[in-house]
Amino acid sequence: MDWSGKTALVRVDFNVPMLNGQVADDTRIRAALPTLRYLREHGAKVVLLSHLGRPDGKPADKFSLRPVADRAAELLGAPCTFATDCVGPAAEDAVSATGAGEVVLLENVRFHAEEEANDSGFAGQLAGLGDVFVNDAFGTAHRAHASTAGLAEFMPAVAGLLMAKEIVVIGTALEDPKRPFVAIVGGAKVSSKLAVLENLIARVDRLLIGGGMANTFLKAQGREVGQSLLEPDLVEAATNLLALGNKIVLPTDVVVTTDLKGSAPPRTCSADQVGPEEMIVDIGPASVGVFRIEIGHAGTVLWNGPMGVFEDPRFAAGTLAVAHAMADSSATTIVGGGESVQAVEQAGLADRLTHVSTGGGASLEFIEGKVLPGVAALKGDCS
Ligand code: 3PG
Ligand code: MG
Repeated sequence: MDWSGKTALVRVDFNVPMLNGQVADDTRIRAALPTLRYLREHGAKVVLLSHLGRPDGKPADKFSLRPVADRAAELLGAPCTFATDCVGPAAEDAVSATGAGEVVLLENVRFHAEEEANDSGFAGQLAGLGDVFVNDAFGTAHRAHASTAGLAEFMPAVAGLLMAKEIVVIGTALEDPKRPFVAIVGGAKVSSKLAVLENLIARVDRLLIGGGMANTFLKAQGREVGQSLLEPDLVEAATNLLALGNKIVLPTDVVVTTDLKGSAPPRTCSADQVGPEEMIVDIGPASVGVFRIEIGHAGTVLWNGPMGVFEDPRFAAGTLAVAHAMADSSATTIVGGGESVQAVEQAGLADRLTHVSTGGGASLEFIEGKVLPGVAALKGDCS
């Protein structure tokens, strides 16, 4: 696009963790910087739209984006002014006062119920503030809201650089991966990731399963899992997935405890020696060895979900080992959102991976193979 003299209405996902009125984690703000810098350098006036939290259609101080504007300015090394509303006179005045190459962040779009309702009158009001809609909010692309999808009805709509990177990197892994393609899926429940597993199994060469969800698969193989988290209703689904060839790799050994909340050292045992009082809380060292080999041989690795209760250092070894194996691998390595991102950040390994997604729910829905409304809205004639 030719940006000179244009106002870019940029939807970002600045829905960042806050603590005591301050930004507690600025990863999502940093991830948007390439788009903001690009637009500034090309002479656009940059008007930022975002939500923060779930204020339910009403203004609320604790969901104000004002502290986020301050952090954005620090990271940008340039002013980021703030408007107390995203529509109406406050927004219009702030946009008028912003010059070419300057940046203004408008207040939380979810302070208006019309945002989540994808109200077209509201989208039209937002659209009146700019010339081109730039959607860089991959993290919110699974929502069909006024500022994520509705705006595209009113103006040319293009992907920002972060959005494009997310779609290209994760999309290529799903559609045309460098093989072997290894997916690692963890987290507590099969139920929340069944669609992910079903979509991945058709595409990957290996599917490594850890975390609480592995218990349901172990059960499907006839093993006893003691007091471990188990979803009896999903044992049949797990059995069906296991029957689809030999792609699934389960932990062969596990870390168990009878003392989840305490500090007793855990025990490591074979996956078929879990006692009736014990609970599986991590994958064991032999499983780590197998996972490491699979990751080492891969052309593409896609990871979502921790291997155990990694918030507790006693049960974090498996998750951290996967993070390290990915960092050491020469494969295209992708961490698809949520808690596995936290693990990678904690271990200081994010820079050594090809891509760490800014999407939680959005990454999951993308990996499920769903159409993301915020992406679908961009398809079409932008001329
Ligand atoms: C997220 O962090 O999940 C996105 O910013 C979307 O927020 P939401 O789940 O409240 O729609
Ligand atoms: Mg969410």
